[in-house]
Amino acid sequence: MGTVILIASGKGGTGKTSLTGGVSVALANMNYKVLCIDADIGLRNLDIVLGMTDSVFMDFSDVMEQRCTLQRAVAPHPSVDNLFLLTAPLTLNEEEFNFDAFKALLDEARTLYDYILIDCPAGLGLGFELASFDADEAIIVSMNDFSAVRDAQRVVFKLVPIVPQIRLVVNRTSPKLLRHMGSTIDDVMDAVGIPLLGIVPDDPQVLLSSNAGKALLLGNNKKASRAYRNIAKRISGQNVPLMKIR
Ligand SMILES: Nc1ncnc2c1ncn2[C@@H]1O[C@H](COP(=O)(O)OP(=O)(O)OP(=O)(O)O)[C@@H](O)[C@H]1O
Ligand SMILES: [Mg+2]
Repeated sequence: MGTVILIASGKGGTGKTSLTGGVSVALANMNYKVLCIDADIGLRNLDIVLGMTDSVFMDFSDVMEQRCTLQRAVAPHPSVDNLFLLTAPLTLNEEEFNFDAFKALLDEARTLYDYILIDCPAGLGLGFELASFDADEAIIVSMNDFSAVRDAQRVVFKLVPIVPQIRLVVNRTSPKLLRHMGSTIDDVMDAVGIPLLGIVPDDPQVLLSSNAGKALLLGNNKKASRAYRNIAKRISGQNVPLMKIR
């Protein structure tokens, strides 16, 4: 049975979509069969980060409303074997948030894929609830700043009763910034109150590769790409030491 992993943060712009894209490619390169689900209704952009804007035609509401099968709705990545994307609808009315239908979709996905990564919208609205209520694990993406940390705490508080395993990724870390703030990764971990899954350095390549329409991990093995690979290995149960951020 596949594992459904939610990527959430509460605060917008912390790096959820970039992390979902990077870690999905890394898991697929490790020969796991991976489905990414973009749950950011109306503001989807996982297709851009994965370099798949020309590949997506159907979205998850088409599956929920039985206009097509899951297998028809998912798009295979044009150059990464084992990687598939199910995108978000551009709109979804309140009455169309059918939690049973979304659960049925995830249950079917669990039989077809090893990992199902859900890129969660910012905030704690209906989109967050739909994306999170049936997840097996969650990754909370925070940065070092107080507002990201406080929003991460709120998300953890919401998820603890429903998601069995919740781990933290601290994104855009830079030793210089931490020194200036008089803060450490341990401080962020203590404040959010969940175990650390990984740290991702601040790396301009994240934005550059997304703008160029190609997935980051296809390009290099440095900084953020290396961090995403390490996180993918830890998700799969491997023991990988934390990378040194310079
Ligand atoms: N490690 C990183 N280093 C540098 N830039 C990054 C890093 N991670 C993400 N970014 C940049 O930060 C911006 C926001 O990233 P992203 O879209 O992944 O965040 P998000 O949490 O999905 O946002 P939203 O809440 O709007 O969905 C993007 O411009 C992205 O390129
Ligand atoms: Mg996003």
